Amino acid sequence: MSVSSEDFRTALSRFASGVTVVTTKDGNGKLHGITVSAFCSVSLDPPLVLICIERSAGSHYAFGESGSFNVNVLASDQANVSEHFATVYDDKFLDTEHVIGENGIPYLPGSIVTLECKLKKPLDGGDHSIFLGEVQNAIVRDGDPLVYYHGNYRSLAD
Ligand SMILES: Cc1cc2nc3c(=O)[nH]c(=O)nc-3n(C[C@H](O)[C@H](O)[C@H](O)COP(=O)(O)O)c2cc1C
Repeated sequence: MSVSSEDFRTALSRFASGVTVVTTKDGNGKLHGITVSAFCSVSLDPPLVLICIERSAGSHYAFGESGSFNVNVLASDQANVSEHFATVYDDKFLDTEHVIGENGIPYLPGSIVTLECKLKKPLDGGDHSIFLGEVQNAIVRDGDPLVYYHGNYRSLAD
């Protein structure tokens, strides 16, 4: 027995998640950012998180080149930011407020959390790569999270 793609997608859409924008830069210093809901905590000691990035994503190569990435957990008023970073643009940072962090990777100051991560290991995840990151720095800001459920953006108040 094997599940169809459609049934699998429908089942996964019932899992409510937060939304992140994961940022990095490539070997030429070009900045990259991608909307990612496949993020989770892995370990407290050492502090590890993972993100899953589709192999066909234009930014996929950049993660291996820089060896660092930032996870920005989006605030409830950032659905437009999520859509922006889920769209293919040559320079997604041109019209987006961002700051270059101490690790040289951009972060989004409007997000409620930024985790600065060092890429520990890329792992095989089928049509995605699993990037395991060791958290070097965690910045926490006030605000409520953006929620994604059943193909729609929600907030905790909904
Ligand atoms: C709410 C939401 C969650 C997403 N989660 C992921 C994800 O976890 N992993 C992924 O590879 N793409 C995810 N995507 C799709 C990417 O953001 C999208 O393919 C993006 O255009 C890739 O950018 P790039 O091709 O410029 O690298 C998500 C999109 C949305 C709207």
